[in-house]
Amino acid sequence: MPAPMSHASSHSSPSALAQPSDAHATDSHGHGAHGHDEPAPAAPVRRAKERRAIVVGASSGIGAALVKQLVAEGVDVVAVARRATQLDELARECAHSPGRVIPLAHDVARFDEVEAAFERAVRELGGLDLIVYAAGLMLEVGPNEFDTAKDLDMLGVNVGGCIAWLNPAANLMRTQRSGAIVGISSIAGERGRKGNPVYGATKAAMNHYLEALRNRLADWAVHVCTIKPGFVETAMLAQARAQGRTIKGAISAEDCASAILRAARAGKNEVFVPFKWRIVGLVIRNIPSFLFKGMNI
Ligand SMILES: NC(=O)c1ccc[n+]([C@@H]2O[C@H](COP(=O)([O-])OP(=O)(O)OC[C@H]3O[C@@H](n4cnc5c(N)ncnc54)[C@H](OP(=O)(O)O)[C@@H]3O)[C@@H](O)[C@H]2O)c1
Repeated sequence: MPAPMSHASSHSSPSALAQPSDAHATDSHGHGAHGHDEPAPAAPVRRAKERRAIVVGASSGIGAALVKQLVAEGVDVVAVARRATQLDELARECAHSPGRVIPLAHDVARFDEVEAAFERAVRELGGLDLIVYAAGLMLEVGPNEFDTAKDLDMLGVNVGGCIAWLNPAANLMRTQRSGAIVGISSIAGERGRKGNPVYGATKAAMNHYLEALRNRLADWAVHVCTIKPGFVETAMLAQARAQGRTIKGAISAEDCASAILRAARAGKNEVFVPFKWRIVGLVIRNIPSFLFKGMNI
C-alpha cells in the first residue's frame, strides 16, 4: 500500500478526505466563509496551460523548485518523495499560491506500490496534464570501488522508479490523447565516465527510454521531453562537493526549473540546461575511446 497522502496545510488538502460539511466552512484555498461585509478574496490567478501535475522527487532541489513555480502559476500539484516533513513544509510555503500542493509520501523504489500511488494522485487531482520525473540518486563511488548494492540502489531510483511512474502516465495520456511527460536525466548520461559508471548508465538508460516513449506517444498528441542538466545547486551537488569534487558554474534550482517548464511547453524533445552543456555534450560524445580512456572526467 502507498503511504497515505499527508495534508499538511489547509490549503494543500483536496476534498477527497474532507467531510461534506468542510465544503461550507472553507473554500478551496482554506479561507474561512465570508460574511456580507467582508470583501471576497481576489480570485486565484491561473496562468499555466496545465491544470494538474505530478512531480516525482519533489521534496528538495529541482523538483521542489518546479512545484513552487507550477503552483505559483495556478497548477495543482501532487508532490511525491519519501520525506513527508519536507513535502509538508513545501505545502506550507505554497499555502498562498493559486495552485495547491498535495503531498504524497512514497518511495519510488517500491515498484509494486507505484500503480496505486499513481492512481490516487490522479484521483486527487481529477486528471493529469503534466508529469515530471525528478527523483534521482547519485551515490559517490571511489575509484576502486565496485559496490553492487550501491549501484542497484541508483538503478532502482533513477531507472526503475522512472519507468514505474511514467508507464501508467503514458498509458493514461495516450487514452486521453493529451499531456506532457518530462524526465530529468543528466549530462552524465552522454558518455561512460570512469568517475561513476552506474549513475551515468542510469541516465543513459533514461535517455533511451524517454526517447522511445516520445516516439510511441507522438501519434497520440502526448509530448515527452528529456532534460539534461549540467551542474545545479542542490543537495546532490553539495554532497558531491563534500566528497572533494570541485564544481563551478552551477545554476540555481529555480533557474533550472524555469528552463524545464519553458522547454516542455515549447514541445522540445531534448534540452541541455543551461545551453552550454549542449556544446559540452557534443564534444565529449565525439572524443575517440582511446583518448577518453585516459581522461579524468
Ligand atoms: N544537481 C545537479 O547538478 C544535477 C545535474 C544533472 C542532473 N540532476 C538530476 O536532477 C534530478 C533532481 O536532483 P536534485 O539535484 O534536485 O537533487 P536532490 O535535491 O537530492 O533531489 C532528489 C529528489 O529525489 C527524491 N528521491 C530520491 N530517492 C527517492 C526515492 N527512493 N523515492 C522517492 N523520491 C526519491 C528526493 O526525495 P526524498 O529523499 O525525500 O525521497 C528528492 O526530492 C535528479 O534526477 C538528478 O540526477 C541533477
